[in-house]
Amino acid sequence: MDQYVIKGGYPLQGEVEIGGAKNAALAILAAAIMTDETVTIDNLPNVRDINVLLQAIEEIGAKVERVDVHKVKINGSFIRDVSVDNEFIRKIRASYYLIGALLGKYRRAEVALPGGCDIGSRPIDLHIKGFKAMGASVDIAHGLVKAEAKELKGTHIYLDKVSVGATINIMMAAAMAEGKTVIENAAKEPHVVDVANFLSSMGANIRGAGTDVIRIVGVEKLHKTEYSIIPDQIEAGTFMFAAAATGGDVLVKNVIPKHLEATTAKLLEAGCEVEEFDDSVRVRSVGRLQHTQVTTLPYPGFPTDMQPQMAVVLGIAEGTSTVTESIFENRFRYVDELTRMGANIKVESNIAIINGVSRYTGARVNAPDLRAGAALVIAGMAAEGITVVDDIHYIERGYENFDGKLRGLGAKIEKVSSEKELQKFILKVS
Ligand code: EPZ
Repeated sequence: MDQYVIKGGYPLQGEVEIGGAKNAALAILAAAIMTDETVTIDNLPNVRDINVLLQAIEEIGAKVERVDVHKVKINGSFIRDVSVDNEFIRKIRASYYLIGALLGKYRRAEVALPGGCDIGSRPIDLHIKGFKAMGASVDIAHGLVKAEAKELKGTHIYLDKVSVGATINIMMAAAMAEGKTVIENAAKEPHVVDVANFLSSMGANIRGAGTDVIRIVGVEKLHKTEYSIIPDQIEAGTFMFAAAATGGDVLVKNVIPKHLEATTAKLLEAGCEVEEFDDSVRVRSVGRLQHTQVTTLPYPGFPTDMQPQMAVVLGIAEGTSTVTESIFENRFRYVDELTRMGANIKVESNIAIINGVSRYTGARVNAPDLRAGAALVIAGMAAEGITVVDDIHYIERGYENFDGKLRGLGAKIEKVSSEKELQKFILKVS
């Protein structure tokens, strides 16, 4: 099993390029099959979840041409099957976007229940509520979600909870339903807007994406388009926190600073300097980090996907901080691992009380999920001594060339796949 091995104590310095947004790309790849014409998508992140979804799209008959690792052409006219179920697709959360896309286009869909990182129960009741409100029958049996609609009619849907997935999924189905759909209490994340822009570039009629009311008027057909995915705000934020935790000075390039406002605000409160440019941000960590309070909220609040990374920074800040996780019920699984590195954190229900320590010490830790795994790598780079992170397949679901980009900033990190390679690294860096 591959591992990351890290020798801490090297402040990150230099520049890093951010790739395309995984959580926008997954929905856009699903939406791409809604036309019978060829769609070209660029700035795709080359990460495992993207490749799993592309393989599933190909398996149901769509033509997929990999122009290069970041660019793909998809043609959905050859789809012969609306049933998507294989061992890989069951492992990713975003498989559910194929339900909205297939239901919108073919009025039928049969997709394996979604998997994903274990950060909470991950229900899809709001997705199903939306599809049923449009006239679809939806059953869950044998691990499959089966949706079917003789007529798919636009309607007025109020989402009881702000849900990125449900907002996007309902928007996709509504794009080819008959008549008008209004989604109230919609998610406003940048990737919701990116999917709406993508669908609009295919001829969909969508207004209000990025606000909490999205209005869609269904169209008969969608047409070809060429589209480039927005930069990944979560990858960008992860590198910003890495700069902060290691006392570094990093220019994070190819970002949309507006998408990073909540992250920037918290880094400023923690005592970092953050400079914004047109498509980059520079983070400098000078002197001891300071405590602060964070609560995760739907966009434009502080992103839940940045919660573990923020906690790692606060774990070595002066004073006592709190991190409140209001989106998922099981997103503190990394705390036990961080404690092995010397952190002083107590979790009470959905609040982590963090008493800053002077520094982490290297240890063997396990990545419990995608973002917590990245956060443990950050802790390893800030720690004294050697850290080994196991289960890095979680990290590779959402970060392209993570160790390579960190090495480019001066981190002493390598991916190893044997004890021998691990010992070789330790010898090399000692
Ligand atoms: C997306 O998950 C992202 N995943 C997550 O990123 C991200 O953390 C999350 O949005 C919030 O921003 C993808 O886009 C593939 P939600 P999603 O629906 O859509 C509850 C990462 O690290 N809920 O916004 O599943 C749900 O349990 C991943 O890249 C229902 O109750 O999140 C949660 O408490 C991790 N019923 C809350 O809503 C539903 O039908 C928000 O979930 C749907 C969701």
